Formats: sequence, C-alpha cells, structure tokens
Amino acid sequence: MSKKSTGKIGGFRRKRELKVLLDRLQAGQSVAIIAPRRFGKTSLIRQALQQSKGNNTSTAFIDLLSNSTPELLSTTLIKEALKNHKLHKEFLAARQSVGSFYISNGLRPIVAAFPFIARFDDDSIDEWELLSESIDFPDTLSSSLNQRLICAYDEFGNGANSDPGGKLIKLITAKTGLHASTTYLFAGCNESAVLPLNEVHLIRLGYMEKQLLIDSLNKKFARYKIKLPRKFTDDIVNFTKGHPYYTQLAFYQTILANSLDGSAPRPRELINHLLTAEKGYIEKVWEDLSRNKEYIYTLLALTEGSKNIYHRLKSKKINVARAQKNLEGMGYLMKNEMGGYTIADPLLEYWLRKNS
Ligand SMILES: Nc1ncnc2c1ncn2[C@@H]1O[C@H](COP(=O)(O)OP(=O)(O)O)[C@@H](O)[C@H]1O
Ligand SMILES: [Mg+2]
Repeated sequence: MSKKSTGKIGGFRRKRELKVLLDRLQAGQSVAIIAPRRFGKTSLIRQALQQSKGNNTSTAFIDLLSNSTPELLSTTLIKEALKNHKLHKEFLAARQSVGSFYISNGLRPIVAAFPFIARFDDDSIDEWELLSESIDFPDTLSSSLNQRLICAYDEFGNGANSDPGGKLIKLITAKTGLHASTTYLFAGCNESAVLPLNEVHLIRLGYMEKQLLIDSLNKKFARYKIKLPRKFTDDIVNFTKGHPYYTQLAFYQTILANSLDGSAPRPRELINHLLTAEKGYIEKVWEDLSRNKEYIYTLLALTEGSKNIYHRLKSKKINVARAQKNLEGMGYLMKNEMGGYTIADPLLEYWLRKNS
C-alpha cells in the first residue's frame, strides 16, 4: 500500500463506528474490525488507540504484514509494550549492540522479570518459543504494573503467503484468548480468520453513507470557493459508492485540476485523474491477481453484477464459489444485499470494465 495511515484523518469521520469501537474497548471487550482493503481499518484503529491512551491504559499497535517473521514480530511486540514506558529505544539499542545484549539501568528490572528478552541472539532458542513468550509479554508486563492494555493486531489473517497453514494466527488466537489484562483489537479483510477468536465483537466497515459524504464534500468545496456544476458532488459519491478514500481523492484531484485549469474537471476527466493517481496501486493489484485465472474470470464477471454469475461462468470450468471466498478474504470483494458479491474498490472495478 502506497500511503501510510497516520490515524489523522483529513477525511470523513466514521463517527458511529468509532463510538461503537471505543465503547467496547472501554468495557474491556475485544473487537475485530473486518473490511475490504482501504476502507479505513488502520485509520480507525489508530484513532481508537490514541483516544484510549492514558488513564492507566497502555496501547500497542502491531502490523502483522510488515512483521511477518517470528523474529521481527517478537521484536515489535516487545518494542511496542516498552514504548508505553519509554524504554523501547533502550531495548532496540540493546538488540543492535554487537556481541552481548547491553542492559541499561532502565531495562534492568524488566530483564530481571522477563529474562527471555535478553536472549534474542541466543541461537539455541527456537524462534517460535521466543515468539510465544513475546505474545504474552505485553499482557504480563501491564498486569504486573496494574495497568490496562489495549493491543491492536492489524492485518490479522491477511498474510496467507507468509503464514502457511495459519500457524501464526492460531498461536495468536490461542495465546491472546488467555490474557486477562489486555483488550484486543484485530483488523483484517478475512472474516473467517477472526471467527475462532473467543468472545470478540465484530464490526464490519462498509461504504460510508452517501448523503453524509455529499454534505461534507459541499462544505469542503465551499471553503475553497470553487464553482461547481450542479450535482457535482452527487456524481463523485455515486462513482465512489461512498468509499471514503476515493471520495477524498476525488476532492483533492478536483482542487488540483481547478487550480491548474481554473475550472472544475468534467466527471470523465476527474475519473481519469483518479486513475492516473492510482496507476501504481492498480497495476500492483492486477499483478497479484493475474497469476490466478480463476480470480480474473470471476472479477471480470462481477463487473457485470453478481446475478447469474455461476451460470455466466459455467463455460470457464472454474470454482467460482472458491474464487469469491478467496477474493473476499484478500479484501477485494464484499457481500451485497442480494447475497452475492460486489467488487469493493470502485476504481478497480471501473478499470477492470474499461480494460476488459
Ligand atoms: N474516513 C476516511 N476519510 C477519508 N480518507 C480515509 C478515511 N479513512 C481512511 N482514509 C484514507 O484511506 C486510505 C486507506 O485507509 P486505511 O486506514 O489504511 O485502510 P485499511 O487499513 O482498511 O486498508 C488511507 O490513505 C487513509 O488515510
Ligand atoms: Mg490497513
């Protein structure tokens, strides 16, 4: 993904979802957020963590995609837990010191209580054993300090390639289920990955309410004093279907085009600006998908809607049900009200239709 989420949203507020999330966390209930790619999961988590911090509550944020080996993940778990006590830099420095693990005064009591921390470079220790201890560490540390912890695992269940057989996900599921002082937040695209989690409240993020986005866009444009054709914002939101990222991108591209040309872009032009801006992303997605012809046939058929899809793809002799399920788990499809699937990304759908 090209843009990093910072948690700061210059965009549209998912007020209702954030409230539900904060209320659950406050009550100590773990939550799983499920949504396709780019629907705002990470942003929402970051906001929730930011707002929950303090008042004897620590937080930790773990991205499972960028920490895809046991060693990386162990390091990040310890670092994130120690960050709450401003000891993470000492830990990282100690990890990088050549030869033995240099224990600073600040770290000394922690290492005394959790000796495994100083044994990272010990080749005799199995990396999964180390990871197992590291998953427990944030919870044990906060409970020993009589603190509450809110710990987020982002991209949970999205790493099928780096987690063969789901070994990592199973370990996290089993261990976190036993942690009494920690409230967990899991986020990912794959609902079946979060189902084995015990007593977790599920929040599905969908498109945002169209009228809310239209009103918000009108206000934003008014601030820039840009003259727009009637129904311009309606057209944007009808195209984006209420996808927050693309709606925001359309706003920026309109401002940009307006400052270059002195007028708002035509709808068709605007879509071309979006395609240009997202060219790298879409090509990367296509590269990932085009390895599997089952996925491609299914996606192309879905650009014509979900009705009769089995019948329409009969001649291709592919497993459509499996393809749809996998594409959902990969964050490309979402269920629609007819019980079928819809391509979640409106720009990808447009691009597929245009290039097929
Ligand atoms: N409510 C929103 N309004 C506008 N833009 C948003 C919103 N939520 C997220 N974004 C932006 O959309 C992109 C994807 O968001 P992210 O939180 O990374 O989604 P996900 O984790 O579901 O893939 C980011 O660039 C982010 O800044
Ligand atoms: Mg994310």
